[in-house]
Amino acid sequence: MALYKMAEILKDAQQKHYGVGYFNAVNMEMTRACIGAAEACSSPIIIGTAEALLPYGAFEWLLPLMLRQAEAARVPVAVHLDHTYHFDTLMRGLRAGFGSVMYDGSRLPDHRENVRVSSEIVRIAHAMGVDVECELGSVGGLSDEQGRADAVIYTDPEDAKRFVDETGADFLAVSIGTQHGVYKAPPKLDIPRLRAIRGTVDVPLVLHGGSGLSDDDFRETVAGGISKINVFTDIVLAAQNAIAQHPQAGYTDLNLYAETAMREATEKKLRLFGSAGMA
Ligand code: 13P
Repeated sequence: MALYKMAEILKDAQQKHYGVGYFNAVNMEMTRACIGAAEACSSPIIIGTAEALLPYGAFEWLLPLMLRQAEAARVPVAVHLDHTYHFDTLMRGLRAGFGSVMYDGSRLPDHRENVRVSSEIVRIAHAMGVDVECELGSVGGLSDEQGRADAVIYTDPEDAKRFVDETGADFLAVSIGTQHGVYKAPPKLDIPRLRAIRGTVDVPLVLHGGSGLSDDDFRETVAGGISKINVFTDIVLAAQNAIAQHPQAGYTDLNLYAETAMREATEKKLRLFGSAGMA
């Protein structure tokens, strides 16, 4: 029985200065790969899905699958809903039963609107016993339904404090130079900015766009105050690579090759983040 709240997992990470990986999953193999990796290195882990991944799996059937595997795991596992942009989708996530949710208001045209909607969502989620991650600034690298690319806006440390105070957010996603997806050029992370944000707010800080970063990037961001690191692209690429290496294999075997590759890729990240051995 190892289902934990994300807040419990991140509290320990914050106190002991290590990072915990968050990994998106859209099926049983991805979920099993994540939890298997965490068990293999005695690490806590956070898994979940997101609004943009809805076409691959509805919250309502994916969540029971994740909860069941989390409960049976030998390590702490939290099940979290990543990036949602619409009030209705977030409410659907609450109804489905996620232990924590992310509302991403970074696409809204003005900052006050992000504060207003985030506050409203925090109030509703808290009344249901659910914690909320919000984003300030904009990480970028994703695009909306109209295909418009998300802006990259670095998080301002003073704004971060006001934002957390005003919204009541439990976790803060910050923009310090990472982007979602595959990088066209190596990212340059603003670690002094991260340290300044860490100095102004108490809640756990979240780094999105965790794929394609160097080992040093991870060490510096965790040392600079990041507690949760979101990774998706690198794990999917590991699966794709494994599938490409077995062109003759049948569909069911391909699933297993992909699962093994995703488990290995996930374990590597957990070891880098410093969470191995912390379960
Ligand atoms: P990557 O796909 O760049 O790893 O980003 C994942 C992420 O931040 C999910 O929220």
